[in-house]
Amino acid sequence: MSQALDEIKIGGLGASRKRVEDNRFIRGKGNYTDDITLPGMLHMEILRSPLAHARIKSIDASKAWDIPGVHLVLTGEMMATRNLAWMPTLSYDTQAVLATDKVRFQGQEVACVIADDPYIAKDACEAIEVDYEPLPPIVNPDQAVAEGAPVIRDDKEGQRDNVIYDWEVGDAAGTDRAFAQADVISRLKLHYPRSHPSPIECCGSIADFNRATSKLTVYMTTQAPHIIRAAVALVAELPEHMIRIISPDIGGGFGNKVPVYPGYVCSILASILLERPVKWIEDKTGNLISTGFARDVYLDGEMALRRDGKILAIRMHTDADHGAFFSDAQPSKFKIGLMHSAFAAYDIPVAHLTARGTYTNKAPGGVAYRCSFRVTEAMFFQERMVQAAADDLGMDQAEFRRMNFVQDDQFPHRTPFGFLTDSGQYGKCLEVGLKAVGYEDFRRQQEEARKRGRLLGLGISTMTEPLGAGNSREYDILGIKMFDSAELKVHMTGKAIVRTGARGQGQGHETTWAQIVAHELGIPAEDIVVEEGDTDTAPFGMGTYASRSTPVAGAAVAMVSRKIRAKARKLAAHLLEVSEEDVEWELGRFYIRSAPDRGVTIQECAMAAYSNMPDGMEPGLENTAYYDPPNLTWPFAVYIVTVEVDPETGVWDVLNMVAVDDCGIRINPMIVEGQIMGGLTEAYAMSSMQFITFDADGNCVGSNYMDYLLPTAWETPGFELHSEVVTPCPHHPIGAKGIGECAAVGGPAAFVNAVIDALSGMGVRNIDMPLLPDRVWEAITYRRDVSGAPPVRSDD
Ligand code: CDP
Repeated sequence: MSQALDEIKIGGLGASRKRVEDNRFIRGKGNYTDDITLPGMLHMEILRSPLAHARIKSIDASKAWDIPGVHLVLTGEMMATRNLAWMPTLSYDTQAVLATDKVRFQGQEVACVIADDPYIAKDACEAIEVDYEPLPPIVNPDQAVAEGAPVIRDDKEGQRDNVIYDWEVGDAAGTDRAFAQADVISRLKLHYPRSHPSPIECCGSIADFNRATSKLTVYMTTQAPHIIRAAVALVAELPEHMIRIISPDIGGGFGNKVPVYPGYVCSILASILLERPVKWIEDKTGNLISTGFARDVYLDGEMALRRDGKILAIRMHTDADHGAFFSDAQPSKFKIGLMHSAFAAYDIPVAHLTARGTYTNKAPGGVAYRCSFRVTEAMFFQERMVQAAADDLGMDQAEFRRMNFVQDDQFPHRTPFGFLTDSGQYGKCLEVGLKAVGYEDFRRQQEEARKRGRLLGLGISTMTEPLGAGNSREYDILGIKMFDSAELKVHMTGKAIVRTGARGQGQGHETTWAQIVAHELGIPAEDIVVEEGDTDTAPFGMGTYASRSTPVAGAAVAMVSRKIRAKARKLAAHLLEVSEEDVEWELGRFYIRSAPDRGVTIQECAMAAYSNMPDGMEPGLENTAYYDPPNLTWPFAVYIVTVEVDPETGVWDVLNMVAVDDCGIRINPMIVEGQIMGGLTEAYAMSSMQFITFDADGNCVGSNYMDYLLPTAWETPGFELHSEVVTPCPHHPIGAKGIGECAAVGGPAAFVNAVIDALSGMGVRNIDMPLLPDRVWEAITYRRDVSGAPPVRSDD
C-alpha cells in the first residue's frame, strides 16, 4: 500500500494555499525601500524640467548650496566630469542622467539636491535657477517624422531625424500575393494610448557606499536586481563583486521597475561622494510623469479575407512613440518587442509586419506594463482587427474566430511571424465562454433592446501570450542571455530554503515556489522558506517581468528539486542498504521496490546528508539549477464582456464579464484567480478611465490621480472566472504556463469590442481608449470614429 503523502495537504501543486507573504503585508509589516533607515542617512530630491523641449542656457545652483542642511547639489555638468551625465539604456541607446545640453521631456531630471531631510532638499531644488530656451516640442510620431521636424536626439552622432528603428518581420512578397487574391480587405487604424503602470509604491533607492570596505549596497525598488548590479558595475565602473543590490518588498512593479532610472544613479554617486547613505524616494507625480510609460503605439492594419470568412493574410504597420530615450528593456533581436506574436492563435498562412520607432518629447516609454514585451498591443490590435473583419464580412463574431483558430491537432504550430506554439484548446475555451455568457440568448436580447432604443453590446477577445523568455538562443537583453536560476538548500532537519533569480512584486512567489518543492520532494510547503531579491545570496537571474517567473524560475525550482531528489535517492539506498536501482520514489519517501514497507522519508535522507553519508559522498543536500527554457509557454484565454451604452450620455456599464483562462497546470489556483482578477481590473481601467496624454506643448495631461484613475472595488465590475480548460505545457517540467499578465493583455479589447458592438449599424469603427463617456457620446452623436492621439484637444 502506498504511503505517499497527500499532495494537497502538504501544500503541493493544486493547493490553494494562503499566501505566506500576506502574514506580514496584512499586518502592515512589509519592509519596503522607504521603510529602511540607515545611520547617518541623507535624502535626495530631483529637480525636473517644466518644459518638454528646451536648450539649457545655464544652471545656477549657488542659492541651493547656501541653504543650511544641504550637503550636495548635483548637476549634469558635475556628472559629466565623472563621465556619468549619460548612461547606456537596456536597448542600446543612451539616456541623460542629468540634463546638460537640452531637456527633452517634461519631468526630465535636471539637478539633484542631497540634504539632511527631504523637505530641505525639495526647497533647495526650487532655489536652483535654470535658464531655458524653449524649442518646438514633438508629441506624436507624425510630428516626429514630418519634414523639418527638430531633431530631438542631436546629442547622438549621425542622428539626423527622429527615427529610432525601422524593423520588419514576415513575408512581404507572399503577403502581397495573398492580398491580390482576397475577396475582401478589411482595414483598421487605431491608437493604443500611453498608459502608466502606476504601482502604488513609487521608485526609490538607498545607496550606501562604505569607503572602509569599498562595498556599495543599494536597497532599491527593482524587478531585476542582478541586471541592475551589472548595469551599476558598467556605468559607475565599480567592481561587480563589491556591489550588492537588495530589492526588499516591492509595492507593485508591473514593468515600471525594470528600467534603470537617473534617480538610482544619482543616489549612488552621491553616496560615493559623501560617504553616507543617500535615500531617494520618488513622489507620485514624479513617477507618473517621468518613469516607464507603456504602449503609445499606432496601428495601420489590413486583413485579406475570403468571402467565406477564411483569413488569407495580415499586413500590419505599427508606429511606436518611445519618448526621448529608447530605454525600455526589449530582447535585443526584436525592436518592437513581441508585437509579432499577433495572430499566433489564428491559422493564417502569411503575414508581414513593419514597425517604426520614433523619438518624441515625452518621457521614455514602451515598458512591458504587465505584458511580455508589446504583447498587449499585439493582442489588442489583433482582436480589434478580428472584430472589424467579421463585421465587414457580416459574419458572427464567434463563428469567425472559431473557423480561423489553430485547431487542437495542428500543434506544434508555426505562426505567420515565425513563433512555434506548442499546445492549446482554443475552440474549447471559446465554447466554454460563449456558454457561460449565454451567447445566443444575449444576441436575441440585443436585437429586442435595439428596437426599444437601448444599446447592448457583446465583445469577445482572445489572447495567447508568449511567456517565459528565453530561450537563450533568441532572447537576450544587452547580450545577456535570458535564462533563470534556483538554489535549494535542504537543512539536516528536512527544512529548506529556496532562492531564485526572479523577484516577485506581489505575485506570491514565496508561496508558490515552496509548492513546487513540495510537489517534487514531499517536503511540506510550510517547511520551505523562499527568498528573492538579494544579489549577494540569490543565484543570478534576469528578474521578474513579462510573466517569466513560473515559466523560467519556477521551472528552475522544479529542476533543482530533482537534482536534490537524485542525491537523496543515493542516501536512501545507503540507509536502506540496497542498491540505488532497487529504490522507488513516492511523494515524500523512498522505499525498496521488493519490500515497500521498508522506506525512508526525505527528511531522514536530509539528516543522513549531514550525519551518515556513504563513503566518498560529498556531504550536504544543496544544489543550484540554471534553466534555459526550450521554448516560450503559450497560455490562452477568452474574455467576453456584455455592456449597455446610454445613447444620451455615452456612459457604459458592464453587465457581465466571463474569463476562460488556460494556463496549463495551476500551481496555486487561488493565486491564479487573483492574478486574473487583477489583470481584468487593469484591463477595465485602461479601456474605461485611465487618461494620461500630452498637449501640443508637451505638457503631460492626466499626471495625477484625479485624472489617471485607479479603479477601486466600487467601480470594478464582477468577473466570472472559468478554469475547466487545462492544457499542460509540454516542455515545462510541471506543465505550467505563465498567467500573471494574460487578463491585462487580452482584457482591454473585450471591453472596447463590446462598446463598438453596441454601436453597430451607426458606422462607428473605432473609439480609442479610454472610452470616456464624452468620446462614446461623440461617436454616437456624430457617427464617426474618435481618435485619442495626442496632442490632446482642449475640450478633452
Ligand atoms: O512572472 P510573474 O510572477 O509576474 O508571473 P507568473 O509566472 O505568471 O506567476 C504569477 C503568480 O501565479 C506566481 O505566484 C505563480 O507561481 C502563480 N502561478 C500559478 O500558480 N500557476 C501557474 N500556472 C502560473 C502562475
